[in-house]
Amino acid sequence: MTDTNHSVALAFEDGVTRFITVASGQTVADASYSARINIPLDCRDGACGTCKAFCESGKYDGGDYIEDALTDDEAEAGYCLPCQMTPESDLVLRISGTAEMAKSGIGTFQATIVKLHWYADNTAGLTLAVEDRERLAYLPGQYMNVQVPGTDQERSYSFSSGPDAEQLTFLVRTAPDGAMTTYLKERAAEGDTLTLEGPKGSFFLRDVKRPVLMLAGGTGIAPQLAMLEKLSAGAAAGTVPAFPIHLAYGATWDKDLVEVEALERYAATIPGFTFSTIVADADSQHPRKGYVTGHLLPEHLNDGDVDVYLCGPPAMVDAVRRYFDAEGIEPTNFYYERFAVGAAAPALAGAGAA
Ligand code: FES
Repeated sequence: MTDTNHSVALAFEDGVTRFITVASGQTVADASYSARINIPLDCRDGACGTCKAFCESGKYDGGDYIEDALTDDEAEAGYCLPCQMTPESDLVLRISGTAEMAKSGIGTFQATIVKLHWYADNTAGLTLAVEDRERLAYLPGQYMNVQVPGTDQERSYSFSSGPDAEQLTFLVRTAPDGAMTTYLKERAAEGDTLTLEGPKGSFFLRDVKRPVLMLAGGTGIAPQLAMLEKLSAGAAAGTVPAFPIHLAYGATWDKDLVEVEALERYAATIPGFTFSTIVADADSQHPRKGYVTGHLLPEHLNDGDVDVYLCGPPAMVDAVRRYFDAEGIEPTNFYYERFAVGAAAPALAGAGAA
């Protein structure tokens, strides 16, 4: 890839994301066509508006089009026409329609377990080496479906590694008699082969344009770690604007708090990043007890001018929404992912902006 090529993520409505490489001067529509991804198109001339998409992040030249296809207000708000636009940086585009409509399937990958690490008896860390790693492009916050060896079941796990990591990491919260739990505790060995499908999900990091509030419950810290890795790399490259970014990370028990050293590293490498850990267990000696909502400060909410990223169990997602309602806070953007421990796939159910 030369410096003038740009990677464009096409995020479809069904949570599938496909990546294409767009050459200098090439339109997104032409590059999609070359990649055999049929995004919605009609006139290909900037006249009909059929291809209208929303740019979540990145810079581009919008090209030539008429007001009927895209109004100035829409362009100002971030809407764009893939048949006319040429990227000036890597982009994330929200495409109308599903990947199925675009005949754009997700990928299947074989991976080898490089390391199985138990943080505690209820939380494992998996490090995988994936065949064709360069074919697996993902956005920080997305997840993969993993087939449980020896069963017909699959489970969904968010990447905790950043999108540029050579090896992929995931956090697994065990469930009594869960298929993955049984496999990991009784049969798994380094060198085992796993089959993964994805990437999936619309819970991913957007451009930082205002203060960010991350909320994580339990292993819901995994996608936030991937986002922080991306932010850390961006900070090193000088491409992350300096807005406050706060993470409130809640766990039921002390032993559920994992990767706190990584968070301390990110606090040192990402300007404006702060975090706090909170433990619900009444018997814990942790300095902050209870739920994450009990430890948010007005500066974290910024009167609603904040992008919220929340990943946790369904009860936490509901509790946070009730909290915002009670506080009269309506975040500018509210992205969330619910997960249910040990649930049949997809364990991550529902994601989106509210
Ligand atoms: Fe008609 Fe893009 S396809 S405006």
